[in-house]
Amino acid sequence: MTRVFSGIQPTGHLTLGNYLGAMRRWAEVDQHRADSLFCVVDLHALTMEHDPARVRRLSRQTATLLLAAGLDPEVCTVFLQSHVDEHTRLSYLLECVATDGEMRRMIQYKEKAAKERDRGGSVRLSLLTYPVLMAADILAYGTDEVPVGEDQAQHVELTRDLAVRFNQRYGQAFVVPRATIPRVAARVMNLQDPTRKMGKSDDSGAGVVYLLDEPDAVRKKVLRAVTDSGRDVVYDRAERPGLANLLDVLAACTGGNPESLADVYDSYGSLKKDTAEAVVEVLRPVQARHRELCADPAYVEGVLRDGAEKARALARPTVDRAYRAIGLLPPVAEPSLSAAR
Ligand code: AMP
Ligand code: TRP
Repeated sequence: MTRVFSGIQPTGHLTLGNYLGAMRRWAEVDQHRADSLFCVVDLHALTMEHDPARVRRLSRQTATLLLAAGLDPEVCTVFLQSHVDEHTRLSYLLECVATDGEMRRMIQYKEKAAKERDRGGSVRLSLLTYPVLMAADILAYGTDEVPVGEDQAQHVELTRDLAVRFNQRYGQAFVVPRATIPRVAARVMNLQDPTRKMGKSDDSGAGVVYLLDEPDAVRKKVLRAVTDSGRDVVYDRAERPGLANLLDVLAACTGGNPESLADVYDSYGSLKKDTAEAVVEVLRPVQARHRELCADPAYVEGVLRDGAEKARALARPTVDRAYRAIGLLPPVAEPSLSAAR
């Protein structure tokens, strides 16, 4: 059976971009057709300046929202990255096949490091090495497919390169995975600046729809979305990014196609109104389920405990195999066994 792995960072409140670009597909498609693991990658939340209490809060909230979005622990595995040591164990081995030049070429590193330096801050070494930890997340499970938004394509490419290189040097240890990017909403843009991705760590929330936003807040944000100066409704991502983003969101929410939706509308006003209502309707069941789950934190904890146990059992043999392949001796056998020999 196909193995699917994906992850999400607890670095902010989850957004409509996370939902349409990733989570919804995990819940509606991936978990039912593949043997899937979905991970709250809490170690990745430590690569930028962070507040421990906030990371704890957001890790719990992110896991709860994954379940609210429809991930079913009966059919898939949901867990926290830091609960399974195999990720960091493997990450070190992969650091021994990755190069520093390769790391410095990662777009997300360049962007985040530049932003940090502009603020006068220092760049954590873990920000540079984080794509290697991500590769370890993926390779530890013999993953075939990685369903992610477009922004992660480069990191999955790197993961493939590292897997191939390791296999060539040290023998077949890893499955070489591939990214699966959604056709619509692969990159939901910020409503106030449609040249930037809608990100959960954006400084201003005005252009970002959060999964837990009240319906009226959602409406306000969509109705105030920056559009382009034209008047006619056409789908053109390059020339009319604001409009194209709204059409993408509407298409993703209603199951339509952005080009044909453009033909249906003759004004920005009615497009915005329908898009706002479509988003409110998509979020409604997720929010309702989130409220129920918040009332039962022990259930969520139980899911994460069981999930970590399942994940550990899957990852351990793969990571052990890689340790042997790269030249590390196994720990001495248990005393009872060596005495018997
Ligand atoms: P992150 O928020 O970076 O942890 O991303 C979690 C998942 O959501 C990844 O698969 C991302 O590619 C996806 N994602 C994040 N932001 C967006 C966005 N604005 N549009 C589409 N997908 C997104
Ligand atoms: N780096 C990803 C992001 O920022 C999150 C992530 C970490 C991930 N490990 C992963 C995604 C493994 C897919 C598979 O969105």
